[in-house]
Amino acid sequence: MTGTITSDRTSVFPRFLDLPYPNVERGEGVWLVTSDGERVIDASSGGAMVTCLGYGVPEIVAAAAEQADRIAYFYNHHFTSEPAERYADRLLEVAAPEMARVRFVSGGSEANETALQLARLYQVERGEPERWRVISPAQSYHGSTMGTLALNGRSAVQEPYAPYLANHLHISPSTWRFDPSGEAALRELDRALEEAQGTVAAFFCEPISAAALPAYSPPDAFWLGLDERRREHGFLVCFDEVVTGFGRVGSWLAAHQLPIEPDIVAVGKSLGAGYAPLGGVMCRRHVYEAIEAGSGEFDLGHTWDGAPLSTAVGLAVLDAMVEKGLVDRVREHGPRLREDLEAAVGSLEIVREVRGRGFLLGVELVDPRDGGSFLPVELQVDELVDQIAFEHGVLVTSTHPQADGMAGDQVLLAPAYVSTDDDLSQMIERFSAALNVVERKIKAAL
Ligand SMILES: Cc1ncc(COP(=O)(O)O)c(C=O)c1O
Repeated sequence: MTGTITSDRTSVFPRFLDLPYPNVERGEGVWLVTSDGERVIDASSGGAMVTCLGYGVPEIVAAAAEQADRIAYFYNHHFTSEPAERYADRLLEVAAPEMARVRFVSGGSEANETALQLARLYQVERGEPERWRVISPAQSYHGSTMGTLALNGRSAVQEPYAPYLANHLHISPSTWRFDPSGEAALRELDRALEEAQGTVAAFFCEPISAAALPAYSPPDAFWLGLDERRREHGFLVCFDEVVTGFGRVGSWLAAHQLPIEPDIVAVGKSLGAGYAPLGGVMCRRHVYEAIEAGSGEFDLGHTWDGAPLSTAVGLAVLDAMVEKGLVDRVREHGPRLREDLEAAVGSLEIVREVRGRGFLLGVELVDPRDGGSFLPVELQVDELVDQIAFEHGVLVTSTHPQADGMAGDQVLLAPAYVSTDDDLSQMIERFSAALNVVERKIKAAL
């Protein structure tokens, strides 16, 4: 089947019924090749910040094939396996020595949902069953399940499922638009803690945001204030590192760059690097020990949790990241990548801010008439950017969250960790050419 697929020509239920979907046939390194033979350089790791090693890596394919040949699947309710055990040991040794245990799942939403359940269980096991609520910064994304949707504080994303969602509490993000010092967020946090009257189980957040506010993190003052309040009020701090773990921001976890240690961390995306669906939830010793000293059960799970095939892939991905020194590479090349991106697009009138942490970059777009307001929603600038970038042969991922009132159109770039200097230059060059076209079109429309 060649060409672009539209909703009237497929049995698949597509995400957007009005969008055409190019048919990608194969990947080569950081390039996607469509069935029409078009080559597109991938600046967002498969579009969802996943394929951190690039496409077609022989040793990962071999590890998957070898494991599938031996045994691909059984249920972790009954058995464990060498790959799951070795992967868990290696992961805690290399990437998160501060953590005591890891539970494997199949993706980011499952990881966050499991983190939420673990935080709740911890409080119950300690004899505080009244603690169930979560406080989380708005303008985040934690997944599409009912539990995780309730955490994002974005009514536009939650509709029409809001009737199913728990009534958690939210604070505004400390961006330049609302609260550059992080002090307003701490005041809001205090108000939320007061309103919740001892019912808070956890504070849940993306330590360095992904698509919702690419590469944004609150100032240190916020993290220090959060740490103080955790000690005073007895809630847990859960980090959603589904995108940042492992390696995306130039450290194994984003937490390693911040002045606070989370109690629970959810990871996903690059663990399987696009070769297997894989995520994980890690917790520190005191969380594990509360369950060990209590009921001794953390039973809810999913069919594919910790299966031999996915954990064998996870282990091979982790080994490849260590052997190739990829986390160091991201840390060393990240600042230059951000500077180059800023030099390429920072002077455009529609660009307000270029942010970057390692290989996670974001370009915030604004109305060129005043350099600060959101672009009009009806221009659908996110779709325009992605489409024109694709026509320029580069894959980026844009978002369009104006309706929630906290951020406007933003573009996310998240190249594979293995991208060469030449790959990175090509991505920036193509993206910059595309964004110039977008600016001209926006100005004409306004
Ligand atoms: C920060 C963050 N958390 C959670 C998720 C959900 O992960 P998944 O789509 O694998 O369920 C995503 C997905 O984009 C994400 O970016």
